[in-house]
Amino acid sequence: MSNALDDSETETTGRTASQTTTTTAGESDERVREAWTDYDFAGTPKLSVEDLNVWYGDDHALKDVSMDIPENSVTALVGPSGCGKSTYLRCLNRMNDRIKAARIDGSVELEGTEIYDPNANLVELRKRIGMVFQSPNPFPKSIRENISYGPRKHGNIEKGLLARLFGRDDTEAEYELVERSLKQAALWDEVEDRLDDNALGLSGGQQQRLCIARCLAVDPEVILMDEPASALDPIATSKIEDLVEELSKEYTVVIVTHNMQQAARISDQTAVFLTGGELVEYDDTDKIFENPESQRVEDYITGKFG
Ligand SMILES: Nc1ncnc2c1ncn2[C@@H]1O[C@H](COP(=O)(O)OP(=O)(O)OP(=O)(O)O)[C@@H](O)[C@H]1O
Ligand SMILES: [Mg+2]
Repeated sequence: MSNALDDSETETTGRTASQTTTTTAGESDERVREAWTDYDFAGTPKLSVEDLNVWYGDDHALKDVSMDIPENSVTALVGPSGCGKSTYLRCLNRMNDRIKAARIDGSVELEGTEIYDPNANLVELRKRIGMVFQSPNPFPKSIRENISYGPRKHGNIEKGLLARLFGRDDTEAEYELVERSLKQAALWDEVEDRLDDNALGLSGGQQQRLCIARCLAVDPEVILMDEPASALDPIATSKIEDLVEELSKEYTVVIVTHNMQQAARISDQTAVFLTGGELVEYDDTDKIFENPESQRVEDYITGKFG
């Protein structure tokens, strides 16, 4: 790639008019500078991503992404459709392992431990790093069972004949966990009288909060959310937004959103991906929205393309 400016020059000069030629389609010869994505924050990162690349067959969907994610905060991932946000998010708990065509190269560390280690325990990993998807996907079971399924699978709650035989029936612990998780997800008041009803009878917004409660029930450290409010009405959306802000006091939240106002409202830092699977800029949310370094990022967040 050719560009007359080198990194040291950009550090002091910032963006210059001659640096880019942007079109309305967002095409540009702008070159991403390391300083734009080298986000400086206090404390140690919860997740540390280094030179992450993803290919689907020959399609290079994510290119050399390096990004440290601070704990107990909300990190928003934004960018136009197809730029690799979901791909990136799925890399953070190895969900892409399930996609046959995907090839992943690079490193993701959770508190300094490589999650792509061939000996990594994927069940344990996905317990520590939970995920909430775009469309609510409750199990076709009761509200209560949706919450207790994970903890039972992980052996935190024992139920059934065998457990009873050994005097280890944890029904009370289960009820407490169900109540705590539903309260955390701001759903308890709406469902406390119908815990044994099928979860598919809930509204979309309620189902999404149930999925968040289900994710919280296994006591994760990181919660990945892929456009969790995109299918919801404004009231349900604002409930999810309040919830995300509340959760970030105790959890590390990484959230994909197409809604710029939402990213500005709820996130502490924002990462902007642009076409071609490139992380272009990553910084405090205020900085990204008020004074981005990249012309393409400015054009994108002000709605000139995307
Ligand atoms: N399972 C898959 N198999 C093949 N290609 C895929 C697969 N998933 C994603 N891709 C391709 O990878 C690129 C990035 O897709 P991704 O879903 O990560 O984008 P995105 O930023 O989440 O888009 P959107 O905002 O529309 O959800 C796209 O070109 C897409 O076609
Ligand atoms: Mg996506």
